[in-house]
Amino acid sequence: RDITLDYSNVLDFISQLEMARLEETVNLYHRMLHNGTGAGSDFLGWLDLPNSYDQEEFERVKAAAEDIRKKAGVFLVVGIGGSYLGARAAIEMLGHCFYNEVPGDKRRGPKIYFVGQNVSSLYINSLLEVIEGQDICVNVISKSGTTTEPALVFRILKEYMDNKYGRVEAGKRIYATTDKSKGALRLLSEQEGYETFVVPDNIGGRYSVLTSVGLLPMAVAGIDLNEVMRGAQVAAKDLGVSSLNDNMCYQYAALRNILYDKGKTIEVLVNYESSLFYLGEWFKQLFGESEGKDGKGIFPASLNFTTDLHSMGQYIQDGRRNLFETVINIESSHNDIVIKKIKGDMDGLNYLEGKTISFVNKKAMEGTIAAHVEGGVPNLIINVPDIAAYYFGYLVYFFEKACAMSGYLLGVNPFNQPGVEAYKKNMFKLLGKPKGE
Ligand code: PA5
Repeated sequence: RDITLDYSNVLDFISQLEMARLEETVNLYHRMLHNGTGAGSDFLGWLDLPNSYDQEEFERVKAAAEDIRKKAGVFLVVGIGGSYLGARAAIEMLGHCFYNEVPGDKRRGPKIYFVGQNVSSLYINSLLEVIEGQDICVNVISKSGTTTEPALVFRILKEYMDNKYGRVEAGKRIYATTDKSKGALRLLSEQEGYETFVVPDNIGGRYSVLTSVGLLPMAVAGIDLNEVMRGAQVAAKDLGVSSLNDNMCYQYAALRNILYDKGKTIEVLVNYESSLFYLGEWFKQLFGESEGKDGKGIFPASLNFTTDLHSMGQYIQDGRRNLFETVINIESSHNDIVIKKIKGDMDGLNYLEGKTISFVNKKAMEGTIAAHVEGGVPNLIINVPDIAAYYFGYLVYFFEKACAMSGYLLGVNPFNQPGVEAYKKNMFKLLGKPKGE
């Protein structure tokens, strides 16, 4: 079965004519994207990646992952932004909900911890405390090779690994994913003999999850990379057509922009499965960094239902009417739990006897969508048949291409991120970083 987009709950808020008006423009931007004539065209490597990825590197990633799975009890993934969120989204979505807590013999790989995504000594020290005494491998990921947060943490981890194993053995346990020739991490890797993987020049951080950046951590977690890439390949084919009528990622992009023009300036990505939490974080980075510029852009948010219905649910239902929701609906259920009758019916739930937990979750979703639409919040639904590697690959490509089209429709370059430099400039000044370094 396929992933589908259902926008019937948006039709009360927009007219078909508004969609039809965008047909020509979408066509034009499709050609710009595929011919590489639009803004940011140096960063279109993700577009054909599912069909043109480096097979030799792909096999090397799998072999390194096998090696890591054999020799490590703990695998540390060091990175931030696009060098962090995609891998985490995949591992959380596709793995056990309590992955690190599963006993070693039943877990599909070593324990996995992410670090380098903040500058908290509390976080780093707590991590060092929990990994003490265990066998460790590290994957340090940075396209530029110079990003402060992961570089700083890696400096600490390198010392830790060198002390624990000696430089030579540490060098065999550290894997670096970075630019093919530039940057401090490339130089250091060559000097220390780390096995390296490449972030292609023409793929920006937030579009890099299907490169070694995301693939190595995924493979270490036991995720089937062939299935991830197969999903992305099918998506590239399905979503490769230019017509708005036949291309659901262009429909999604068009609808977002129509809603934005009507004052719906906040998009909330909603899930009903806790394992999709980091997919929401990845989505926010992809769209926030791609579209939030030149004084424009939908503000991407994410919520986890039903949990957040007991917090932000009030705002969504009743607050300022400047938002719309995109619901990820996972259609299947696994390990379902049947609700039993209890004597005395003290909790008043016997009316659910014979129903399943997933059934209740579905009814919560249907009831929420109806209530929110009624309350003035347009709802888009992305139906995903199952939680599986194939669908993860498909979803990644769907969102990446939708984001590119949406950015073009908004009139921005979806592949740059000039705004993230401002905090760095101030921070470096405050830290006294020597000029030119
Ligand atoms: O999407 C982006 O370009 C950023 O979020 C980067 O991924 C992030 O800043 C990390 O950069 P690097 O991989 O160079 O360390």
